[in-house]
Amino acid sequence: MKRHPGLVPISHEHRQILFIAQVLRRGAVRYRGAPATTSEKLKYARQSLTDVVLPHMQREEEILFPAVGGIDDEVDALIVALIAEHRALAETIANLNDDGVDAVTLEGRLDSLGALLETHVRCEERILFQRLQAVLTDEALQAPGDQWRAAGTGAACLLEGGS
Ligand SMILES: [Fe+2]
Ligand SMILES: [Fe+2]
Repeated sequence: MKRHPGLVPISHEHRQILFIAQVLRRGAVRYRGAPATTSEKLKYARQSLTDVVLPHMQREEEILFPAVGGIDDEVDALIVALIAEHRALAETIANLNDDGVDAVTLEGRLDSLGALLETHVRCEERILFQRLQAVLTDEALQAPGDQWRAAGTGAACLLEGGS
């Protein structure tokens, strides 16, 4: 299903976040300029999560979810689950450090976080957005996109994928 224009700015950020998630995965395909060591990966993770992922989740809760909630039971149930995932992701991000852990453990934590992020974004794209496009009017779908653009799209991704 083609993405509705009202959801396009949010989908664009999802592509950035999927790229970040890929970089965090263990055994990610290397490319020029990618963080090479585990400590470089941690530094990249901290910065991109703070600059891109946390503001994105905040805008979803302040702009998107209130705009599309209260119309459809399935959407409302998804929003509750997605907000719980935001809390879990924010807690994992807040606790991300290399204090007293070896490189293998840290690599494992970054890999798990990448996997969580990927699952979360795919749920929003494939389940929530598909459902929104099935049950909301054009006008209702356009509103969150307009507000999202007005709020700005945050800092550019540190290592922008060719999305
Ligand atoms: Fe989200
Ligand atoms: Fe999202």
